[in-house]
Amino acid sequence: MKLFIKKPIALLMAASKEGEKTLKRTLGVGSLIALGIGAIIGAGIFVRTAAAAGEHAGPAVTLSFLIAAAGCALAGLCYAEFASMIPIAGSAYTYSYATMGEFIAWIIGWDLVLEYALGAATVAIGWSQYFNTFLETFFNCHIPFALSHSPFETSTTTTGMYASELGSHGIVNLPAIFILLMLTLLLIKGTAESAAVNNVIVIIKVAIVLMIIGLGWSFINPAYHTPYLIPADAGTVKTNTGIVHYADTFNHGWLGVLRGASVVFFAFIGFDAVSTAAQEAKNPQKDMPKGILISLVFCTVLYILFSHVLTGLVSYKDFLVQGKEASVTYAIHAAMPGYGWLAKLVTIAILAGFSSVILVMLLGQTRVFYTMSVDGLIWPIFSKLHPKFRTPYKSQWFFFIMVSVFAGFIPDSIVGDMVSIGTLFAFVLVCIGIFILRRTDPGLTRPFQTPIYYIVCPLGAAICLCMMASEGLDNWLRLFIWMALGMIVYFTYSIKHSHVRHGKTEAANDPPNPKFVE
Ligand code: ALA
Repeated sequence: MKLFIKKPIALLMAASKEGEKTLKRTLGVGSLIALGIGAIIGAGIFVRTAAAAGEHAGPAVTLSFLIAAAGCALAGLCYAEFASMIPIAGSAYTYSYATMGEFIAWIIGWDLVLEYALGAATVAIGWSQYFNTFLETFFNCHIPFALSHSPFETSTTTTGMYASELGSHGIVNLPAIFILLMLTLLLIKGTAESAAVNNVIVIIKVAIVLMIIGLGWSFINPAYHTPYLIPADAGTVKTNTGIVHYADTFNHGWLGVLRGASVVFFAFIGFDAVSTAAQEAKNPQKDMPKGILISLVFCTVLYILFSHVLTGLVSYKDFLVQGKEASVTYAIHAAMPGYGWLAKLVTIAILAGFSSVILVMLLGQTRVFYTMSVDGLIWPIFSKLHPKFRTPYKSQWFFFIMVSVFAGFIPDSIVGDMVSIGTLFAFVLVCIGIFILRRTDPGLTRPFQTPIYYIVCPLGAAICLCMMASEGLDNWLRLFIWMALGMIVYFTYSIKHSHVRHGKTEAANDPPNPKFVE
């Protein structure tokens, strides 16, 4: 059945040449780095840092960030090599098509929907929560509970903005759909325009993170950093459900640091989205590795400094009660008198941060499906380009509807966890892919080479597999179900329409079907 038929690299390279009917090359190295930072800094740093510190790692959450960064850096090096060698849209899907064959490529392309489409849905739901906080903070009003939550949620809080709506049921999450619509329109207008908006957002959110680090540094209380790892006898702590013994309920020591790493891993998701835009980069061979690696290193440094400051302002135990969305503003109010304005700015940074994450995720998703469609593995509609803007507008609309259904009608707890496991799975396959290609095709031109690949690739795959292992059975089951659905599509549609399989070897800029591009 030729399940592992490969797409020749020469064909991929031919397809990478810009033509009238391909995506436009508009992105320079600055925009690529900004795309990476745009996708990376979001809920992870502002929401998950406190959760990881409170429940797992304490002040040593900085080490958790280092471990997660190490896994991402190893995978990032492999991504960088692939992106310089095979600089066309599609990211990990394209790389695996050339190295491990069509079936694995299909698995990875289908899997990336979990990272990008569900990632966009998860962050859009978070955006909606913060939008209400923003309205409440600056305008003393908010969108009613019913119109900003999914039908599966009921208001149970007797404090805060929803206090008067106790017992209200959600109907639809309108703000989440609103932000998805705005960003979809922007993406249809053009990649250059989207990148320009992303650049502005990145400047805003990075500036606010730097302000928190710079201004908060002098308020660090060294006592909160001692001991650095949570000791086994951490005593009792106050949680939302009462006073408990820390060690009985939560992790501590190095185990806590490791568990913390899989929690904060979410904060790094997105750096690989740079590689989905390879076909829109002006000078992909040189600039893609820079875009991926510089954005990753920059965010790692920022994350470590940020988490060092956050856990130095208040005790990590406080985050068990003041966790998640309240954590950063709580720490500023508690430890930095006179800086209430900074706490308000945090809401803006978070809204901006979430917007750019959604933007790049939606961009990445449509680019992966664009390439799969050009290859004949999914329906041609996903590679139809707008006659004027040369963006895959029909695909953009399709994913607006799909992601809106998740964001508008399903709670984030169901979609959120799928994102990490799907991403890690892609990282594992990319690490293995580079290893295979170095052995089977050592003579290929590689503008960027992963150093000591025989260590980097297996180690990257192993670290990502370890993080996957700690994801829990539910997630594995959901991954399995999603993949089973993918198998049905592959064996009923893709296998019959695959261009490589049926010897249609035209490049993307010379499509076989005149109706392929409108
Ligand atoms: N890294 C992205 C975030 O933290 C997904 O929101």
